[in-house]
Amino acid sequence: MTIRVPRLLSRRRILWIGGALPIPFLLGACDDKDEAPSASPTTGSATPPQGPATGTSVATAGGGSTASATATASSPATSVAPLEPTPACGDDDDDDATLAQTEGPYFTPNSPERASLIEAGVTGTKLVVSGFVVGTDCQPVAKAMLDFWQCDDAGVYDNDGYRLRGHQFADDTGRYALETILPGVYPGRTRHIHLKVQAPGRPVLTTQLYFPGEPGNGRDGIYNAALELEDFRDDGGGKAGRYTFVLQV
Ligand SMILES: [Fe+2]
Repeated sequence: MTIRVPRLLSRRRILWIGGALPIPFLLGACDDKDEAPSASPTTGSATPPQGPATGTSVATAGGGSTASATATASSPATSVAPLEPTPACGDDDDDDATLAQTEGPYFTPNSPERASLIEAGVTGTKLVVSGFVVGTDCQPVAKAMLDFWQCDDAGVYDNDGYRLRGHQFADDTGRYALETILPGVYPGRTRHIHLKVQAPGRPVLTTQLYFPGEPGNGRDGIYNAALELEDFRDDGGGKAGRYTFVLQV
């Protein structure tokens, strides 16, 4: 059966938010053993609210149906040009489950609920990451929880507090939007953002997001091109990108 993705779920949709940001910075520590490729995946840590956060990470790419975007036309022949077909689930990689990746050593549970990680003391280039959370059936996952954490623009994690850490819930269409800064780079890793995604009452997917064109991508053993932000671009003095997370729900 062909399942069609609503327009608003198409990866081709560009979502962005405008805004501004502040200055100074912080503390914390991160060392070179951060997220060594040998590190074990998700330790289970209880991410915020919502259901029994069992911490089980979701396995790598999944199947999903493949379907072609075929427009049906049962009406009598006309001279009207056919409409552009609505993107169907399976016409690209949308229905492959998002890859799981190591949590690394700097996850802190119980982050505050907030869609913006920009606050006093946070410096850097503003970044907006937006997109949807869907299932392998291409249906939106309403109220999915997304918990983000990252280092600051100097490559330092705040391991004492919650700076640049926060969780939010997707809306009823599975949409989410994170406002933050472009994370810095620290030894051994390319630029990245950590996160956990969880459908209500379902296992937690722990993964990371990457940035296209980063010199360090090719040298980072954890980096995976499938987790690169899409449509990464300049936006209102900052940067913006999109990513659709696909959960095995
Ligand atoms: Fe990291």
